[in-house]
Amino acid sequence: MITINVEGALRFADKKSVAQALEQAKEAYRQVLTGAGPGNEWLGWRHLLQSPNDAELDRVERKAAAIREEADVFIVCGIGGSYLGAKAVIEAVNGLIPNGKPEILYAGHQISGRYLEQLIRYLEEPKATGEAKRVYLNVISKSGTTLETAIAFKVFREWMEKQYGDEASRRIIATTGPEGGVLNKMIDERGYDKYIIPNDVGGRFSVLTPVGLLPIAVAGIDIQSLFYGAVKKFRECEKSADDMLEYAALRYHFQETDKAMDVIGSFEPELNAFTGWIQQLLGESEGKEGKGIFPVSAAYSTDLHSIGQMIQQGKRNMIETFLVVEESGSRLTVSESDFKADELDYLSGKEFHEINKKALEGTIEAHIEGGVPVFRINIQKLNAQNLGELIYFYELFTAVYVYMLQVNPFNQPGVEDYKKAMYRNLGKK
Ligand code: PA5
Repeated sequence: MITINVEGALRFADKKSVAQALEQAKEAYRQVLTGAGPGNEWLGWRHLLQSPNDAELDRVERKAAAIREEADVFIVCGIGGSYLGAKAVIEAVNGLIPNGKPEILYAGHQISGRYLEQLIRYLEEPKATGEAKRVYLNVISKSGTTLETAIAFKVFREWMEKQYGDEASRRIIATTGPEGGVLNKMIDERGYDKYIIPNDVGGRFSVLTPVGLLPIAVAGIDIQSLFYGAVKKFRECEKSADDMLEYAALRYHFQETDKAMDVIGSFEPELNAFTGWIQQLLGESEGKEGKGIFPVSAAYSTDLHSIGQMIQQGKRNMIETFLVVEESGSRLTVSESDFKADELDYLSGKEFHEINKKALEGTIEAHIEGGVPVFRINIQKLNAQNLGELIYFYELFTAVYVYMLQVNPFNQPGVEDYKKAMYRNLGKK
């Protein structure tokens, strides 16, 4: 279960403006429901929850099970919406320390040659048993043309062909748009297993398609619970979405009153990738036509020792969003001290989760005191079902809130500008 608490934000808002914004939020939600808003050809992230495709879920699960049987390493090769959602769920559920096979590694999300060389070297190091690592690769690109992903894929494709010969094609899985693009040509020529990103689902809204589901299932996570967690939230919100609408109204109010930044943080390191996913979802959706609040992902308590000072006393132009996990699943306790000089006696017998929670509450208290409006998203515990709920909640929230700004949430025209300049610099015709 997830719930949202807006008390820490409400106290900074003008009640009359928020009431007005709430009416706008309702109208924006109506646009989402009826498909009357801009970019309505990209509402597939809703349709796939409205009519779940169980056959596709089964196909993904069967493929993942076969890969898990064999692979030691599974490489996810993609950028932006083509990998962030998978990484977010995998880390949130499995944690940050590698916990078995296959190991999930990422590529194609930047252009560092050093990183690719190190990764290949790691793949070539034998296992403890002396045997070679068995590697599978999932290249994910809706367009099939994204440079970062395309050149990393070229490196791994060639490496795998050298390692496995004709068998390489069986170890490469391609996830892309239904037709067209370079990747589809390669699929036809080399016979890679193909998974489809539907035309009506944009990259950052695609985690519940094979884009996210296949890597997540390969990581051993129950994708039925994830997907049906999202379906549950979808059905609940179709009946009543009051809490989401209030959240949208308030964030819109802060946008209108010149708040420039939303620091999205958590005290659970397993959620760092998830706050990164939210950062991309909001950033690429709302940052257009001179509008939007800049989303910044923060990792606490680590970042209290870096940007914490800024949040507490810097320019008062920010809001904050905390993802709060109620039950951590860990019972690790601070032991009785046999060394009094460490002055940790007052913590003896306390669980780390309790200490972490007190740090969180203290931080929220201090930041509100310092004039920062705070939203709090409570997650009962980090499991597939709750993350499914959270994913749909944020997708819907993003669509509604960005419609309130009167911009299209589903395109990213500005991203083309860096690409044009980069290709020009690279001498691409
Ligand atoms: O949300 C988006 O659409 C983007 O972040 C894309 O996912 C990202 O640019 C990768 O695009 P592609 O999947 O076409 O390689």
